[in-house]
Amino acid sequence: MHNAAIAALGLDWRYLAFEVRPEQLSQAIAGAMAMKFVGLNLTVPHKLLAMDMVDVLDASARAWGAVNTIRFEAEDGSGHWRPISELDEIPGRVRSHGFNTDADALVQALSEDLKVKLAGATVLLLGAGGAGRTAALKIASERVSKLFLVNRTRSKVEAVAAEIKRLWPEVPVVLGYPDKPVDLVINATSVGLKPEDALPLDPGAFSITKTSAVYDMIYRPAETLLLRQAREAGARVANGLGMLLFQGARAFEIWSGRAAPLPVMRRALERNVYGN
Ligand code: ATR
Repeated sequence: MHNAAIAALGLDWRYLAFEVRPEQLSQAIAGAMAMKFVGLNLTVPHKLLAMDMVDVLDASARAWGAVNTIRFEAEDGSGHWRPISELDEIPGRVRSHGFNTDADALVQALSEDLKVKLAGATVLLLGAGGAGRTAALKIASERVSKLFLVNRTRSKVEAVAAEIKRLWPEVPVVLGYPDKPVDLVINATSVGLKPEDALPLDPGAFSITKTSAVYDMIYRPAETLLLRQAREAGARVANGLGMLLFQGARAFEIWSGRAAPLPVMRRALERNVYGN
């Protein structure tokens, strides 16, 4: 999607994938900076590690405690830090600036792909790993009327609930399944990635017929068992492709300072992920 966006905007850039060991992440970031890269995306497990490795943290990275986008910046002639992409000549000092575009991408995907507005909604969130934790904090920050949290390992969901209580004490958080219908169910677990996977929720404790919308962060397969059952039950459904798209589009804007060509990026993603 990034190379498609780069081509659409006529930029002389390339987006490339590099496999980096966690113990060499700091060297990799320094190397990219020394080579005057425009920026980087980071994925698991680097998002948390990079918090301590970048020179400056944007509010988005501080809020969610994870960095998925780095922009390299150089000091211009008048002592201001400017994105590398804005400078023809790169003088002296360069710094790394860490951002997080994942959390906003979830809200945008829920709004655009599912027509769900989080303010005032009741939400059941499944999962409290990296993705689940960020989702829970972001959803709470959007002032939902009640947030139900479920995770296989109870201690992790308790830690997330405690974090929410500290940051947004007015948001009611319940550990466990709702006993009434909810507006939205979100799957942030990895259950559903494999074709033989069962549902990420206990159907004995919560029936999928008791929600009007379901978002599954998994995008491959395009339709998990959860999404299929929800669709068959008449709920609005969307998979995680939108989240992947929107986090990438925002990163592209952070690097380039230009509006991301969303339809171009979406088409490229669909072609690459689903081959159609
Ligand atoms: P990510 O960065 O994608 O969130 P992660 O941090 O490894 O990845 O989190 C994976 C999530 O899927 C966790 O919520 C995990 O539950 P645990 O916290 O109990 O490990 C959940 N998960 C993975 N496999 C699962 C399974 N077989 N049944 C239930 N939950 C599972």
